[in-house]
Amino acid sequence: MVSVIVAVAENGVIGDKNSLLWHISEDLRNFKRITSGHPVVMGRKTFESLGRPLPNRKNVVITRQDIEIEGCEVVHSLEEALAMFSADEEIFIIGGAQIYREAMPIADRFYLTRVHHSYEGDTSFPEWNESEWQKVDSERFERGEKYEYPFTFEVYNR
Ligand SMILES: NC(=O)c1ccc[n+]([C@@H]2O[C@H](COP(=O)([O-])OP(=O)(O)OC[C@H]3O[C@@H](n4cnc5c(N)ncnc54)[C@H](OP(=O)(O)O)[C@@H]3O)[C@@H](O)[C@H]2O)c1
Repeated sequence: MVSVIVAVAENGVIGDKNSLLWHISEDLRNFKRITSGHPVVMGRKTFESLGRPLPNRKNVVITRQDIEIEGCEVVHSLEEALAMFSADEEIFIIGGAQIYREAMPIADRFYLTRVHHSYEGDTSFPEWNESEWQKVDSERFERGEKYEYPFTFEVYNR
């Protein structure tokens, strides 16, 4: 099973200058809880923005370059990444925009954090067709412990 997980601002922005634009500790905890123990697949730029492999998860990095990254499996396409795992494994696509664009059409589940605030940034989540998805869970927070705007955790199945 292929799952996409992302946090998206009200205006579609997901990042700027290869980093995140907000710090929502509840969202980071949610991401860790949902993805721990499962493979995570990401683009080379997202790996660089993280700076290290995520612990307790098999990290797969997609690049066109012939490189090795310590603690990660390096592959050259999304298909190659997905082929590493059996069909009953939940594989998480964790970004960024280039990889989301390829993964959304084939994803089975979508974990979306809606950040109810607009940000200026150079990277946006691709358009997605909400009518193809069924919302199965939603939890809204009026603010975070250290974050001043509302956000909602949503889960969709195709
Ligand atoms: N808000 C969120 O939840 C969230 C999550 C993740 C990331 N982000 C943000 O998103 C931004 C990064 O996204 P991005 O779109 O710039 O980069 P990205 O998708 O993380 O990585 C792009 C790189 O992946 C490789 N790649 C992409 N398509 C490929 C293909 N078909 N075959 C082989 N390799 C391929 C290329 O690597 P090479 O150049 O090495 O060939 C490409 O430069 C950052 O600002 C980050 O903070 C936000």
